[in-house]
Amino acid sequence: MSSYVNEIKRRRTFAIISHPDAGKTTLTEKLLLYGGAITLAGSVKGKRTAKHAVSDWMEIEKQRGISVTSSVMQFNYNDYCINILDTPGHEDFSEDTYRTLMAADSAVMVIDASKGVEKQTRKLFKVCTLRNIPIFTFINKMDREARSPFDLLEEIEQELGIRTFPMNWPIGSGKEFKGVYDRSKKEIIAFTANNGQREVEATEVDINDEKLEALIGEDHRKILVDDIELLDGAGGEFDLEAVRTGRLSPVFFGSALTNFGVEPFLEEFLNMTTSPLPREADTGLIDPVTNEFSAFVFKIQANMNKAHRDRIAFMRICSGRFEKGMEVMHMQGGKKMKLSQPQQLMAQDREVIDEAYAGDIIGVFDPGIFSIGDTICTPPQKFLFSGIPTFAPEHFNRVLQVDTMKRKQFVKGMSQIAQEGAIQIFQELGGGMEEVIVGVVGTLQFDVLGYRLKNEYNVDIRMDGLPYQYIRWIENEELDPKTLNLTSDTKRIQDLKGNRLLVFANEWSIRWAEEHNKELKLAEFGR
Ligand code: G4P
Repeated sequence: MSSYVNEIKRRRTFAIISHPDAGKTTLTEKLLLYGGAITLAGSVKGKRTAKHAVSDWMEIEKQRGISVTSSVMQFNYNDYCINILDTPGHEDFSEDTYRTLMAADSAVMVIDASKGVEKQTRKLFKVCTLRNIPIFTFINKMDREARSPFDLLEEIEQELGIRTFPMNWPIGSGKEFKGVYDRSKKEIIAFTANNGQREVEATEVDINDEKLEALIGEDHRKILVDDIELLDGAGGEFDLEAVRTGRLSPVFFGSALTNFGVEPFLEEFLNMTTSPLPREADTGLIDPVTNEFSAFVFKIQANMNKAHRDRIAFMRICSGRFEKGMEVMHMQGGKKMKLSQPQQLMAQDREVIDEAYAGDIIGVFDPGIFSIGDTICTPPQKFLFSGIPTFAPEHFNRVLQVDTMKRKQFVKGMSQIAQEGAIQIFQELGGGMEEVIVGVVGTLQFDVLGYRLKNEYNVDIRMDGLPYQYIRWIENEELDPKTLNLTSDTKRIQDLKGNRLLVFANEWSIRWAEEHNKELKLAEFGR
């Protein structure tokens, strides 16, 4: 294999998702320790952010540069080059997570063994299934009292609609947690409580070994033998193809905090997950190896440094090799350009890079030209990657500027923050920018909007809550929304691209609209 092909093939780009507190940050940290990317636990601060008020959150953004909301961490492990896409912990920023998932080739879903599937897990899982990417499950916190592993698997299958295949099986939990049984190696890895940062020493014995009872006790041995018999009898065959197409989720039990089961998980995960996958564009599939350089923007982050009011556009390289200074085409802008200051993140440090390959994420300086979903490629290639869907906001505020003299700054600030995808802006049908309706997925985003307009654009705003909860895009291009028969609490609006939409106060009004306007076609995701 040429070194070029090998560079692409050895890449693994994935996101770790979880309901807050399930252990995503802890697991990420342990993975980074294995890669030698960080030397001290406690360096990944995602969760701290989640629990802080907005102003603190902003402070942390500043301290950490650009990496809080979601960034990427690259490190080498064995022959692999791993890109972990970090996602924000707080559910109010879940839109960022949705978009990040669009840049991943697989996802690791962390579940708290005492809680099982939670609200945020469900939401994020839906996004993974949109693209059929492989999903690996890490059932965490086995060192605490856990629910029955059979129950947990059944819940995942029922609630998320994916088949599961336990790769290992827990022996007890909480104070009685003895370790796991590795089903393919037919070995036991014994748990020794050790809160240190090094790997817990593993003792491997065969399940039939007489040492077993001394290790885990008679009762646990009996339960284990029964459980395994049940699993082997009832469970289907392991099917790698089903894993790779997102129909079967391999499940691992472990404890991230005590570093138990993390390295075996990493090794098996890396074997099973795929190298960068082809990606759909309007001309067909773009192959990571045979196509020349191409990428798409999945995240834009404003620079928090007041002295440099610039932005970083994060792009996922989909094909070929990126070289510093190369000329590329920004398809949406229709312009040839050089990507300046290309950089990559290694845990907390940013470094300027000379080259990168399909699968990698690079951040580039954005003078304000990129939007989420934009395609960049080397000429003469010409194609557009399928856009990133706009997620339906669930909270709406009317936003007015307090000092009307600052109109220019208000419009600029609002448009730039919307371009980053942090908020969505709507207007009255035929309305202007003096009064806008802002939609967000989580209400904390309103606070961030107010804070940023004040601090970055010196603009004060007033926000009035609106009673809407649901938004739908009108798909009929010809239809005049004014002719629709709607309940009095339904509002007709438009987005900045000119798409027409309806906002509803409740589901009942959506049904009313559909029943009284037979031709009306409504969509839940925007384009
Ligand atoms: P998140 O990113 O998914 O939000 O979760 P995070 O890793 O921050 O973990 C949430 C809490 O759960 C933390 O405790 C963390 O130490 C704990 N935790 C994570 N994995 C395990 C595990 O395997 N076993 C046990 N027993 N606990 C685990 P905290 O008290 O909220 O934070 P901290 O003060 O310890 O940092």
